[in-house]
Amino acid sequence: MNSTSSSFWKAFWLEDGNLVVIDQTQLPFRSTTKTLKTSADATLAIQDMTVRGAGVIGNVAAFGVYLAARESNGDLAKIKALSAVIRLARPTAVNLMWAVDRMIAVLEKAALKKDDLEKDDSRKDLIEVALKEAIAISDEDVIGTRNIGKFGCELIEAIAKTKPEGEPVNILTHCNAGWLAIVDRGSALAPIYEASDRGINIHVWVDETRPRNQGANLTAWELGQSNIPHTLIADNTGGLLMQYGKVDLCIVGTDRTTRSGDVANKIGTYLKALAAHDNHIPFYVALPSSTFDMQIADGIKEIAIETRSADEVLYMQGLQDDGAIGKVRVAPLETKALNYGFDITPARLVTGLITERGICKAEEMAIAAMFLDLI
Ligand code: MRU
Repeated sequence: MNSTSSSFWKAFWLEDGNLVVIDQTQLPFRSTTKTLKTSADATLAIQDMTVRGAGVIGNVAAFGVYLAARESNGDLAKIKALSAVIRLARPTAVNLMWAVDRMIAVLEKAALKKDDLEKDDSRKDLIEVALKEAIAISDEDVIGTRNIGKFGCELIEAIAKTKPEGEPVNILTHCNAGWLAIVDRGSALAPIYEASDRGINIHVWVDETRPRNQGANLTAWELGQSNIPHTLIADNTGGLLMQYGKVDLCIVGTDRTTRSGDVANKIGTYLKALAAHDNHIPFYVALPSSTFDMQIADGIKEIAIETRSADEVLYMQGLQDDGAIGKVRVAPLETKALNYGFDITPARLVTGLITERGICKAEEMAIAAMFLDLI
């Protein structure tokens, strides 16, 4: 990728002007990619979760706008129409809308500067502008996640100093907020990667994250790739581990955080925050500033929660004995299921927000003080 930043691992890259993405629906069993050539390809990849995680959704959406520019030969009206479709691909992660809006704003500004958009050269310029901006967005995430890692690692380091010799800092995380979710170090996993780099003794409890199992499939795989000690647990185990004193710190990601600090993240996050609160365990949320939605204050009333197919609850996908990836039904044939993809953790349960600018309280005044320019 034409990145200006040094890279860790990437969930996507540019090849011959197209966007190649790791197909996350096949991990950890198959290492395959898909090539996105059109804006419709980008929309579908976000919808069917070939790519997922708030940051990467935003990145693929931004490159989708570039693909829209290319397929409409730089016609701004057509780019806008195609981008409006990308913007609706999933409802909860605000990075998607943020990235599309930023791309369109930059293209509109560039178009204003062109004296004659009917000329081929001017239209070609818009395609270039789109590509440059999409790359800039992902480059910013690379730098942002590195900073999130550094700030978050200070919390881990402080706990490590209180532990008896040889005992690891036990960190619990939910879903996947690693490099598959935001380039290039993740949000929740960025402090964990940084701690591992600094030689701090850590161990990660990985929630399986039913129904799509992003913890089992993706986080366990990512941590394994980096030789970071971890143990997979069923989603409902975290509370008991906390009662047993086996969790020192929780760090999760977020798909949308309100200006008052309410957090939308993968379904089940709220229950972990409640258990952490009850057991006096710090519960941190890691995010780049693109995940703030400063327009809204009340997460429960104002954040649209994605509802996905009931089949994701009724069936489980995994590796079969014959080596194929298959699905098995886990409920009676006549059973109905409800599948909310995210929940809201109220700000009062969040110890702090780990951002690329530093750690701040999940409170409106504190957020405003650190992110005045975003209001
Ligand atoms: O449905 P997903 O897999 O896209 O959900 C991902 C999460 O909930 C992550 O925790 C979140 O996107 C933060 S990581 C940048």
